[in-house]
Amino acid sequence: MIYLDNNATTRVDPAVREAMLPWLDEHYGNPSAGYRFGKETRKALAEAREKVAALIGAHPEEIVFTSGGTESNNAAIRSALSYTPERSLLTTTVEHSAVFEIAESLGDDSTGLSPALNPVGSSGIPCLVEWEKSLASERYGVASMIWANNETGVISPVAEAAEIAAEKNIYFHTDAVQAVGKIPVNVADYPIHALSLSGHKLHGPKGVGALYLNRRSRFHPQILGGGQEDNRRSGTENVPGIVGLGVAAELAAGRLTDSENIAALRDRFEQGVIEVVDGVEVNGADAERLPNTSNLYFSGVDGEGLLILLDEAGVCCSPGSACSTGSVKPSRIIRAMGHSSSRARSSVRFSLSRHTTEKEIDEAVGIVEKAVGKLRIVLPSGSRVISSGSRKS
Ligand SMILES: Cc1ncc(COP(=O)(O)O)c(C=O)c1O
Repeated sequence: MIYLDNNATTRVDPAVREAMLPWLDEHYGNPSAGYRFGKETRKALAEAREKVAALIGAHPEEIVFTSGGTESNNAAIRSALSYTPERSLLTTTVEHSAVFEIAESLGDDSTGLSPALNPVGSSGIPCLVEWEKSLASERYGVASMIWANNETGVISPVAEAAEIAAEKNIYFHTDAVQAVGKIPVNVADYPIHALSLSGHKLHGPKGVGALYLNRRSRFHPQILGGGQEDNRRSGTENVPGIVGLGVAAELAAGRLTDSENIAALRDRFEQGVIEVVDGVEVNGADAERLPNTSNLYFSGVDGEGLLILLDEAGVCCSPGSACSTGSVKPSRIIRAMGHSSSRARSSVRFSLSRHTTEKEIDEAVGIVEKAVGKLRIVLPSGSRVISSGSRKS
């Protein structure tokens, strides 16, 4: 198998797994317990907090452990909105559904406070002129911009967006789930109030993540109960998961330089495919992108059909469309960039990791060439193969 779907999830690093095992086994104490058996678990949480904080330039007390990126996004945005009941949310058209759906739900409520979606250009980069204009309108109390897009890898101008929000005294959150661990992210460099990250995107375990909360900003907890995480997120902590996230963060901090190799492999893949397959374009080619992500448009080729053939040949990657109950929806992100539904349906995301090898990339290029060749012979353009459902991650 050639795994090129690392933006969906990554393989747990063996060192992460090793570090987690004792916390599933002999060290099972509840971190809230007063006896020594609980204290050792508390110490493990504190160490993990330090490691996660170090990865993003935060103070350990600014890190709240959560169940992952989705919860972190919801907690940050809903908390911030609760402090500005008379104002709404400004976010972008290229958010992951874990932010986009919050905006959609606000649009449905009876308060009349409609959220707004900042547009992107054909490059996929959010438009700062519009961002500034919207924030100047005084209709928004909370602004949230994705740091790097999960489908295209396009990196947003987060520094500028945060500065603009700060000038207008508006709460700024960023969904950095795809950025953290892949590119340098340092919260101390920008006026950011909150940032979301997730363990399983950086070779840590699934179901664990963190929310960075600037220590000078207010937070209204969204999960109430026993007061864990300094009253910011109740519920007995996922100790093995948090320990794993800590080790994954430590490894990621030491391996950010791998991104050059990963980018070289990604470029080798793109150039290889473009050389052997006609009618291929890179979605987001004009933007700065994550080093590991390649979103390719195969003109006249049904993306779902291509995925089926790639899967059969052992290549795992993601569609530019999402199926639910039999209907194929073209990617909202590719559409937001001004491209047609047909381009979105003919686009496929390949995402690499530090485990991807040159041999795999060269093999994958050959497999893509064959699969596209087959589809172009067998299927007249416009026909589609329908496969089983999948969700965007
Ligand atoms: C940009 C982005 N935000 C949020 C999430 C959700 O993270 P999690 O799966 O940890 O809930 C994802 C997952 O794909 C993502 O890519």
